[in-house]
Amino acid sequence: MTILQDLESRLTTALAAVLGEPATASVTAAADLRFGDYQSNAAMVLAKQRKTNPRALAQEIIDKLDLAGLATTEIAGPGFINFRILPEAYAAKAKELLGDAQLGVPAIGEGKTVVVDFSAPNVAKPMHVGHIRSTIIGDSLCRIARFLGFKVIADNHIGDWGTQFGMILHGWKTLLNKDALDADPIAELLRIYREVNAAAKEDAAVMDTCRNELVKLQAGDEENLGIWQQCVDVSKRGLQKIYDKLDVSFDHWLGESFYNDRLGPLVDEFLAKELARVSEGAVCIFSDGTKKPEEDPFRVQNKEGWIDNPAIIRKADGGFLYATTDLATLQYRIDEWNADQIWYVVGVPQTLHFRQIFDAAARWGKTGDFRHIAFGSILGEDRKLMKTRSGDNVGLVEVLDEAVERAAKVIAEKNPDLENADEIAETVGLGAVKFAELSQNRLTDYVFAWDRMLALQGDTAPYLQYSHVRIRSIFRKLEADFDASSAAITLEKDEEIHLARLHARFGELLPTVLDDFRPNLLANYLLELARAFHSFFEACPVLKSDEPLRSSRLALCELTARILNTGLGLLGIKCPERM
Ligand code: ARG
Repeated sequence: MTILQDLESRLTTALAAVLGEPATASVTAAADLRFGDYQSNAAMVLAKQRKTNPRALAQEIIDKLDLAGLATTEIAGPGFINFRILPEAYAAKAKELLGDAQLGVPAIGEGKTVVVDFSAPNVAKPMHVGHIRSTIIGDSLCRIARFLGFKVIADNHIGDWGTQFGMILHGWKTLLNKDALDADPIAELLRIYREVNAAAKEDAAVMDTCRNELVKLQAGDEENLGIWQQCVDVSKRGLQKIYDKLDVSFDHWLGESFYNDRLGPLVDEFLAKELARVSEGAVCIFSDGTKKPEEDPFRVQNKEGWIDNPAIIRKADGGFLYATTDLATLQYRIDEWNADQIWYVVGVPQTLHFRQIFDAAARWGKTGDFRHIAFGSILGEDRKLMKTRSGDNVGLVEVLDEAVERAAKVIAEKNPDLENADEIAETVGLGAVKFAELSQNRLTDYVFAWDRMLALQGDTAPYLQYSHVRIRSIFRKLEADFDASSAAITLEKDEEIHLARLHARFGELLPTVLDDFRPNLLANYLLELARAFHSFFEACPVLKSDEPLRSSRLALCELTARILNTGLGLLGIKCPERM
């Protein structure tokens, strides 16, 4: 039980005693520590309902409140109850956490299955830096959800059946350089795609040829299917290398093509159940008229007023669309994997698409908790969308390589004799890129600024990794192994009380990350923890203290290191032993 839960349950008992009937009370962490650690407005809420004086009611509640060994209280302002946690309660908590592999994090996801749909790049196109956001946020959410006890299924829904294949097939047949394909398959596929794309814009005949190749592919033409399969295979291999580097993994790679056979029957079912109807030859899902137009994803407003904004699931020429595949995918995940929740980590521009899919799924009788976890763009230091000199999107691989290179340079300057410098540069460089992403509010556009994200001081991964290294180095100075679980903990100075307070908060904070899918809450917590550690370390001698204080402080160091290591791990970031 967290300290917050403990307070809530004691407060609930006191409320029942005062009111003579059960009532629940909520407690929140106080925004300003000068007024205590936690706060409840229960007395104010209840006094309003019962038309009594809130401060008097707060006093009555406090008189019945048993906070022995946990906290002291104070009534503040119009009737807030403020709680100040006793140092011995934080000491007991730290002791408990040292023996707990979960570090006080409750298993709120137990018994629930969640599918996380993230990364999902398009085959035969390079992953660009925009995909980095989906990949890094999605991976972190998977790690956090698993730690919270969810059964997590990570699914890479790659775009392996798009219209780009018309151009790639034509390019493969007319422009392909086999040696270049062997050397760097994704680059060669991209080259032929770009060339054909440019030619098709100039020449309608080329466009027609591409369209024909696509139709043949969709009709199951053997030659085209063979080429398509090769493209998918080489692309997947190239992607796998990037995921290995990033330490990102998936349970499945069920791309769009996996659902091909299900699309025809799905459209038939939608027609038969009157969930869709034919309009100008196409099969479309329209509004069912049950929502206000502002809330209806199948209505949009133009000059004349509200008009239909249908989702097409089969074109007049028989072709299926992105929406058709997503409905089939959702059905599969519910029927085959028993998903209770599906989280789609996809950029803001697809907001309407997902609103339509979720609305249509509900009408279709597919129940579950479906979330579009959207994110904004990454900007260059000029605050424009990040582009290379030639105007292309910056490739993900180049960004990662550059991060590692720059980290290596910083390390060479600061610590030229470091062993395994290459490996550590990789850990620091990739950690910096991930943390720059995850410490932002996902919805805001963020500026990709190399020097800022690699700085050892500041809100960066290297700062956190360095804090961890600093703690590990304390333990290397000890003559014998230190057993933190047998240390008695006493908290004297404010700095050590504050450090223990943050230790206790870890288990309270982590579940809240999933309230609105904000790994930045965890990132910011870790920064706060590291800062608290540095203040503690300055104010409280550790190795130079006498026992039992020395062991108590060493145990606080150990717990800090464990939480930093675990917390960074949940962001997909590793901690080196030295740097
Ligand atoms: N391939 C798509 C893109 O790059 C993202 C797919 C997201 N997942 C989904 N189920 N629609 O834009």
